[in-house]
Amino acid sequence: MIFDILTLFPDMFQSPLDSSLLKKAREKGLIEVRLHNIRDYARGRHKVTDDYPYGGGAGMVMKVEPFAEALDAIIRERGRAPVVLLTPQGEPFSQRLATELAVHPRLVLVCGHYEGVDERVREHLIDREISIGDYVLTGGELPALVIVVALSRLVPGVLGNVASISSESHAEDLLEGPQYTRPDEYRGWKVPDVLLTGNHRNIEDWRHRESLRRTLRKRPDLLEKAALSEEDRKIVEALKKEG
Ligand code: ADE
Repeated sequence: MIFDILTLFPDMFQSPLDSSLLKKAREKGLIEVRLHNIRDYARGRHKVTDDYPYGGGAGMVMKVEPFAEALDAIIRERGRAPVVLLTPQGEPFSQRLATELAVHPRLVLVCGHYEGVDERVREHLIDREISIGDYVLTGGELPALVIVVALSRLVPGVLGNVASISSESHAEDLLEGPQYTRPDEYRGWKVPDVLLTGNHRNIEDWRHRESLRRTLRKRPDLLEKAALSEEDRKIVEALKKEG
């Protein structure tokens, strides 16, 4: 998968791209991230990318021309791809949206900054707007990274253990249950016996039950929309009684 990222702060991407999963995925050629500095497309000697808002008001607004020219150049060179603006006004990002976006071989992510971007960017240059949560950051760079990581994990071959994708938190609207590794006892803190038995049927049942328990306790809102079997509903009712 290829990401073209338009930003005023390409340096913010360097360390995350050179670490952990993104580093490996790039080295294997499974993802490619191309950073485009919006300032390179600004005009004049001072390469101005923002200006005062028409009608007055606090803060600066990012100008339309550098975005338009950067996007023109990217499309000319590489062809069309969906263009996503990162903004707190966008559609909430979720695992479901990540899965939906991951079908595209290429995405263009546009990072706004300052008080906002000229509305004509939204009207004429952008296909969709995405927010990573109901809080306001200084720009779209961290949100763009969040999207790159969430989508990269879904690219076949990026994660070693493919089976774990479907059991992890949010993949099926349930949170993942507790995980343990060696030692089986530390300071008297014990690993649940069932995990040491080697009985896979019992272990799967236990994990599923713990996943339901954890979701009920931490994110009951997810249980409302989860696709639960009749058996699951009974377990949830029993868990509610346990308190
Ligand atoms: N830019 C600033 N805050 C943001 C957010 N929460 N999501 C996406 N882009 C943003």
